[in-house]
Amino acid sequence: MKKLVIFASGSGSNAQQIAQYIVGNQHIELSLILTNNPAAGVIDRARRGFDCGLNVPVLIFDRPTFYQTDRIVRLLKAQQIDLIVLAGFMWLVPPALVKAFSGQIINIHPALLPKFGGKGMYGHHIHEAVVAAGETETGITIHFVNEHYDEGAVIFQAACPVEPTDTPDDVAQKIHALEYAHYPRVVVEVLDGLIGQ
Ligand code: GAR
Repeated sequence: MKKLVIFASGSGSNAQQIAQYIVGNQHIELSLILTNNPAAGVIDRARRGFDCGLNVPVLIFDRPTFYQTDRIVRLLKAQQIDLIVLAGFMWLVPPALVKAFSGQIINIHPALLPKFGGKGMYGHHIHEAVVAAGETETGITIHFVNEHYDEGAVIFQAACPVEPTDTPDDVAQKIHALEYAHYPRVVVEVLDGLIGQ
């Protein structure tokens, strides 16, 4: 049995896609959803069983707990978690957590890194910057996580065109479609040991 957890700060639509992809897989358990945001949509999605009957507990944590204690590292170690999946998680992963789960944390970034990465480049800000820069393509990057925002080894990228008439919302839609098409599969491939750092 391989165990994963998902960290999410917002709507949680990627978390839901992953949940729906692995439900029924006897070898994979989604053990826990962790969020820093008590108002995150991912909490409601989890309470609804991700609309696929998958019941997953949710842990809401605050900044001092995350950055000044080892409670989360200890919890994840005690549960023998194999993979930490960031899906719209907006806080920097603290060095102690990166170290404790070296090569076992992955993130999805809604741009073609190294473009449009780093602090402040998240969610809708990215799509606005992409349109403002007149980019003709953008995409997604799935990568291992290190102590710096958006800098770990790249696992997978996929691109989509940006039309001159596209608004940031149009770009967001295309990006979500790419994320849903690829992130769940890549998560399972990493869990199955097919991809390593
Ligand atoms: C996703 O597009 C994800 O790539 C992005 O936030 C969105 C979350 O959507 N992540 C980042 O910007 C991380 N820097 P979701 O909550 O519906 O999955």
